[in-house]
Amino acid sequence: MKYRRIATLKSSDEFAEYAAALGLNLPCDHEVQSGPGAPLAQPYRLDERVIGNRFCALPMEGWDGMPNGQPTDLTARRWENFGRSGAKLIWGGEAVAVRHDGRSNPRQLLLTEANLSSLESLRKSLVAAHRSKYGRTDDLLVGLQLTHAGHFARPSLNDRLEPRILYHHPLLDRRFGIPPDYLVMSDSEIEEIIGDFVQAAQWAQQIGFDFVDIKHCHGYLGHEFLSAVERPGCYGGSFENRTRFLRDVVRGTRAEVSGLLIGVRLSAFDFVPFRKCASDGLGEPEPIKLPYPFAFGGDGSGVGYDLTEPIRFLELLRTLDVLLVCITAGSPYYNPHIQRPALFPPCDGYKPPEDPLVGVARQIAVTATLRTRFPDLCIVGSAYTYLQEYLPNVAQAVVRTGKADFVGLGRVLLPYPDLPSDILSGKELDHRRLCRTFSDCTTAPRYRLISGCYPLDPFYRKRPEAELLEQLKRSKTPYLAPKIAKVKI
Ligand SMILES: Cc1cc2nc3c(=O)[nH]c(=O)nc-3n(C[C@H](O)[C@H](O)[C@H](O)COP(=O)(O)O)c2cc1C
Ligand code: SF4
Repeated sequence: MKYRRIATLKSSDEFAEYAAALGLNLPCDHEVQSGPGAPLAQPYRLDERVIGNRFCALPMEGWDGMPNGQPTDLTARRWENFGRSGAKLIWGGEAVAVRHDGRSNPRQLLLTEANLSSLESLRKSLVAAHRSKYGRTDDLLVGLQLTHAGHFARPSLNDRLEPRILYHHPLLDRRFGIPPDYLVMSDSEIEEIIGDFVQAAQWAQQIGFDFVDIKHCHGYLGHEFLSAVERPGCYGGSFENRTRFLRDVVRGTRAEVSGLLIGVRLSAFDFVPFRKCASDGLGEPEPIKLPYPFAFGGDGSGVGYDLTEPIRFLELLRTLDVLLVCITAGSPYYNPHIQRPALFPPCDGYKPPEDPLVGVARQIAVTATLRTRFPDLCIVGSAYTYLQEYLPNVAQAVVRTGKADFVGLGRVLLPYPDLPSDILSGKELDHRRLCRTFSDCTTAPRYRLISGCYPLDPFYRKRPEAELLEQLKRSKTPYLAPKIAKVKI
C-alpha cells in the first residue's frame, strides 16, 4: 500500500486536499502566525498558575538510565533539550517507575529516596536550560510521570519479562508467552503499589516538580486497570472498581501532600493487538471473538472507539479535581500505529495498515470531542509528529478552534527540540531536522540499545550504537521478544 509522503506535499493547501481525499476532517490553517498574538503563543491559566504558551513536551524515555534508576548524561541531555524547546508545559519528562518491579526496562528511571537528588538535578537542568534561553521560568510547568509497567515489566534483565498482571488477557498472554497459571496480582499487592505511588508523589513534590502524572496509558498498569472487566474483586469488573486505583492514588496523595497538581495521561481508546500479515507485512488485527471487551474506550469491534467510558473517566477526574489530562491512545507494544503513527515500522512492528495521517486525525478527533465536553479541564493532545511540515498549521488550527488546549510533541522533539521556539518566533522550519518517523528511536531499545534519533540527530549518529543499530537492521536480525521469567511471583 502506497501512502503519499508528507514532504512531497508542496503547500498547506495541497496537504489539506490530500487529507480531505483520505476522508479526514483535519483542521489546518493556511497561514501560521508568530509573535505574542499568535494562537499558539497564548498563555493558559490553570488555577493560580499561568503556562506561557500552548506547546507541551510529551514524556519520552531513552532507555538510558543507570541500573539503579538514576539518570545519566544522556538522560540529562534529553531533559535539557525539552527545557530549551520553548514548550511551557513539560508533561512528565519520561516515565519514572515508582518501584523496582514496575520498571519497563532495566534502564528506566526509578523514584527512590536514594535517587532523589539525581532526579532533582535532572529537573533543575531542564529548568536552567529553559531560563538561559528564554529568561524566565515562572510560566513553565514541569511534571513527573509516575508509572508501574505492570504487564510489560522488565525490571532486571533486558531479555526477561517479569509481568505483573491484573488479569489474563487471551491475546497478550499468547503473544508474550504468559502461561495460564501465571499469578495475577492480588488486591493487597495493589494496595502496596498505591502506597508507592503516593510516596512517589510526595517525593516528586519534595524535589520541586509542579505536578505528577498518574500514568494510565499504553498498556501499563494504570491503563490495564481500565480494561480489567473480567477481574473479580474490588479492582475489576464495574467502572467504579476499575477506577479504584486512580481514586485511591489521588486521595492518598491529597492526604499526604498539599499544593501538588495531579494529572493523568490516558489512552482514551484502544484497539485489539495488531500483528504483521505474513504475506504483505501490513498490520492486521488479531482474530478475536466479538465483542472484544479488553479495549478501554473501544466499541467492541476491536478496531473502533466509543468514548462513553472515557467520558465517565474524565468526569471522575473532574470530581477528583484532577485538571490536567493528556490524551493518547493504544500501546506501543501491540498497536503502535494508533499510538505513534509512522510510515516506517519499528523492528517488532508491521507496515502501516492505514495512512499514518488517519492515526493522527483519529487522536485529534477524539481529543477534540473530549475537549468540547470538558472545557474546564486542561487537555493536551498527542501524535502530531507525523504531520511534519504541516504540524504548525494543524497545531494552530486545533488550538485556535478549541480542539485541545495544548499541542503535545513527542518524537519531533528528539531531532528538532527547537521546533516550538522556531514556530513561535516565525523562523522557517529546519526541514532536515523534521522527524520522518523512521522509528529508530523505538527499534533501538527493542534491540536493547539506548534510544535516540539516530538518523537525524548528529549526536546519536556519531555514537557507536548507531553503527550497531545499522548492522542489526541490515542483517535483518530478528527481534527477539523477551522471555517470561521462570520465577513465580
Ligand atoms: C522513544 C519514545 C519514548 C517514549 N516514552 C514515553 C514515556 O516515557 N511515557 C509516555 O507516556 N509516552 C512515551 N512515548 C510516547 C510519546 O509520548 C507520544 O505519545 C508518541 O510518540 C506520539 O507522539 P508523537 O507523534 O509526537 O511522537 C514515547 C515515544 C517514543 C518514540
Ligand atoms: S528515530 Fe528520529 S526520525 Fe525516526 S522516528 Fe525517532 S525521532 Fe523520528
